[in-house]
Order: sequence, then C-alpha cells, then structure tokens
Amino acid sequence: MLQSSPILLGIETTCDETSAALVRGGREILSHVTASSASLHEKYGGVFPEVACRRHIEVLLPVIEETFSQGGVSPEALSGIAVARGPGLVGALLIGLQAAKGLSLAWKKPLFGVNHVEAHLYAAFMSSAPPPLFPSLGFVLSGGHTLLLEIEGARRYRVLGTTVDDALGEAFDKVGVLLGLPYPGGPRVEALAREGNPFRFPFRAGTVKKSPLDFSFSGLKTNVLYTFQSLSSPSAQDKADVAASFQRAAFSDLLKKAEMAMEKTAPKALYFGGGVCNNRELRAQFAKKFPSLPLFWPSPELTLDNAAMIAGLGYHQFLENPLGDPLDLKAEARISQIGIAS
Ligand code: KG4
Ligand code: ZN
Repeated sequence: MLQSSPILLGIETTCDETSAALVRGGREILSHVTASSASLHEKYGGVFPEVACRRHIEVLLPVIEETFSQGGVSPEALSGIAVARGPGLVGALLIGLQAAKGLSLAWKKPLFGVNHVEAHLYAAFMSSAPPPLFPSLGFVLSGGHTLLLEIEGARRYRVLGTTVDDALGEAFDKVGVLLGLPYPGGPRVEALAREGNPFRFPFRAGTVKKSPLDFSFSGLKTNVLYTFQSLSSPSAQDKADVAASFQRAAFSDLLKKAEMAMEKTAPKALYFGGGVCNNRELRAQFAKKFPSLPLFWPSPELTLDNAAMIAGLGYHQFLENPLGDPLDLKAEARISQIGIAS
C-alpha cells in the first residue's frame, strides 16, 4: 500500500457497536476501535434502542480519539470522513452522523455517507487479495439483513433475493431467546448446535412462491418454538438437537438459494458479509458444497458491525466523487438502493 494513499476515518453507530477506524487506500487498517453495548442488552433479549443510543453518546468521541492515537495519524492527514448513514436504528445513526458532520465542518474534510449493508459485503473484498472476481454472488447475513446479490462489477449489484420477514441473524437470536441463551444468540446457538443432532427435527425454512430466491425464516422460528414447547422439561440434549436442527434448516436454505442463483448466472466467486459469517458450520457447509468456487469471507474483526468496512467502502466513494456528500445528508433507517444507481 502506498504511503500516500488516501486515509479515511470511518464511523459506525448503526446498532449496538460504537466503532471508529482509520483505513488507508480502502484496505489497510491503521487503527480500529470498537466499543460494544451488547452485554447491556442481554437482559432484554435484543437491542434496546435507548440504551444503545445513550452508550453511543458516551463513548463515540473517546473511541474516535483512541483511533487517532492508535493510528498515529492526525486529522489533517485525512482525505475524508465516512459514516454509516443507514440502514439501522434511526436514533443511533443520527449520533454517528452528527459527529461526522461536526468533524467534517471543523476539519474541512469531505463527508461520505456509506450504506452499512453494502459495507458488510465490501468487508469480504477488503479481506481478500485483489483483483476482485466478477461476476460473483454475494450474501449479506447479518442481524438486520439477509440478501443474495449478483455482483456485476465494483459497487454494481442486482438484488436476487431478500428476506420477507426475519433476517437470518435475527432468527438465530430469537431461537437463542427461546432456548434460554443470552443475547446475541447466534454464537451461542452455534456452540450448542455442535453438541446436537441436526436431523432430529425436520425443520425447513419457508419458500416464497412468487420470488423463489427470497428468504423467509419466520415460519421456521415459529416451528422451532412449537417443537420446543411440545418437549416436556427439555433436556440439555433436546436443546442441542433443536439448535442443530434449526441451524441445518437455515443453512440448507442458503445453499439451495446459492445453487438456484447459479442456474441464472455463472459466478466466479462467492463473497459473504455480516455477523452470521462468524459461524464455522456455515463456512464448512459452503466449502463442502462448492469445492471448486473461491469463497471469500470477511476476516473476524470485519464480520460484525465495524467502522473499518465503512472507511474501506468510503474510500471508493471518495474515488468516485472526492467532494463527498452534502452536509444535510440524512440518516436512513431503511435504504432501498445498494451500490451505484445504473
Ligand atoms: O452484522 P451484524 O453485526 O448485524 C447487523 O448489522 O444487523 O451481526 C450480528 C448478528 C447477530 O444476529 C448475531 O447473533 C449473528 O450476527 N451472529 C451469528 C454468529 N455470530 C454472530 N449467527 C450465527 N452464528 C454465529 N457464530
Ligand atoms: Zn451490520
């Protein structure tokens, strides 16, 4: 990486992580600091927005200061400030956005509003050696989103499928709650599933007739709930079998959708993003099913919500439009467009 490559500050406050990072040339992480409020939400079984917002306000500026001190970079050296403008919790987004706007004004640096979901996918490109392979397929599997995309070129996507109800991470978290596991359930369900029989319960994800590449996990979650309730005083093994059977059903749906998408396109690679990518069984199943296809997963620090992926993608927005976005950039709880409008 050239020493002179542009450095961007990234800021991410979409949900329960407060994160800042300095990234050079869209790939090289100079520093990355994240404070998570996940443990504060444990007792609610999900993210409590007011608690998350209060925490963002308390820790965002110290997190940014720490990022500069670890990165050994001064604000004058920046080429811009990239901030997650959505999708996410609107109150939480506003805190990051206001901070980014203030710093942009004070330091006279351009502002780049970044789509957080696209950034999750960019994390896989950031973690893999260039050049990127196109056309390819992308999966975003996070707590708030489930997307299957055809990636036609840099920042050019076609959405092939999305969830019509729960996101995959959300379904993991809800199954975690019903199994009595603390939030976030995903990693705990994975750990429990390792001890269980994935074929004991014949769970299946839903199908969406009109749009067969769309996802539906709400019925699966309800099926898990009723099955679990039907077990009188479930044993530890029963719980592990439920977790394993749920996970098998969810992942076999992803594998099936990937196969179906490949009938329409001939991808050169698969790229993955989002917190569910931490799941080792998911990675193993894709590797087994598609042994001859390169699979690119984000490195561990780039799977969950993080500012490095925001700064990384922000760099590409800087290359496209160095002046950046206007200062009246709005936070968007939902963003309809991903990538560059064609
Ligand atoms: O990408 P992320 O931070 O979420 C959003 O931006 O929405 O990912 C968080 C999600 C949570 O739902 C969490 O339970 C899930 O990722 N997750 C996992 C694992 N690790 C995190 N799900 C399944 N298996 C895991 N090992
Ligand atoms: Zn996320």
